[in-house]
Amino acid sequence: MSHQLLKGKKGIIFGALDERSIAWKTALVAVAEGAEIVLTNAPVAMRMGKINELAKLCNAQVIPADATSTADIERLIEKSMEIFGGKFDFILHSIGMSPNVRKNIEYTSTNYDNFLKTLDISALSLHRVLQTAMKMDALNEWGSVLALSYIAAQRTFPGYNDMADAKAILESIARSFGYHYGFAKKVRVNTISQSPTATTAGSGVSGFDVFYNYADKLSPLGNATAEDCANFCVMLFSDYTRMVTMQNLFHDGGFSNTGVSGKIIDAMVQQ
Ligand SMILES: NC(=O)c1ccc[n+]([C@@H]2O[C@H](COP(=O)([O-])OP(=O)(O)OC[C@H]3O[C@@H](n4cnc5c(N)ncnc54)[C@H](O)[C@@H]3O)[C@@H](O)[C@H]2O)c1
Repeated sequence: MSHQLLKGKKGIIFGALDERSIAWKTALVAVAEGAEIVLTNAPVAMRMGKINELAKLCNAQVIPADATSTADIERLIEKSMEIFGGKFDFILHSIGMSPNVRKNIEYTSTNYDNFLKTLDISALSLHRVLQTAMKMDALNEWGSVLALSYIAAQRTFPGYNDMADAKAILESIARSFGYHYGFAKKVRVNTISQSPTATTAGSGVSGFDVFYNYADKLSPLGNATAEDCANFCVMLFSDYTRMVTMQNLFHDGGFSNTGVSGKIIDAMVQQ
């Protein structure tokens, strides 16, 4: 179902680990819609993941970059501009990791070194990417930068741990940087707040299955899939959303505006 929405556009996609990744699906849709892309992930993920398979499918080059390293991001943008032959149009920040979540350390007993790593990898990295792109004047006017968030930025989901704080900062950076990049270069910056999705990062959150089923039952449209999210990302990279910036856009089947649903009531009554 290609509409060539991204014909002539070029962009960098962070975070495709395996075929379940939201970034993986977005890369495939972006290319099907006519985009030329560069793929990137942390050097460690290169060894664990399957990014080279995706690169073949997308006819894309892969440039490793740790999102917490300014030198890596500068190198990534410089090399991408060489590949693209100049400026480009979009960036997908699809990066999240919490050492506290990985090690099952409760929020109330947090390890602060881990906490700082969570914030650096999952939130400040967006600022680093934006700052570097702006300094290098890497993005065309009306370019679009997107990062992926979760509703735990606004409401408490205890198993989400310090990632909730990281997402709150991530969304705030999109607003704050969106202001500056908008006035300076007409570049838009947004976050998408996505439904729970069965990926490596998603499934790492404690109680994910229960969480996933609850959200699916509460949401009038059900949970949004990674494929749905990829389509939404591509729309936000396209010229059809030129005036959308500094927003956190819920892509969650209606979850965020639903108090309770018939399906949840039925499940409670059956208990
Ligand atoms: N899966 C969900 O339920 C869900 C819901 C809402 C939002 N999100 C967000 O979507 C984004 C993508 O996650 P996903 O669900 O596709 O899982 P995923 O595990 O496939 O992707 C996470 C990516 O982050 C990358 N990453 C980790 N540390 C990095 C670093 N230092 N430098 C560069 N990259 C690094 C990983 O290698 C991986 O590719 C994340 O921001 C996540 O928080 C996920």
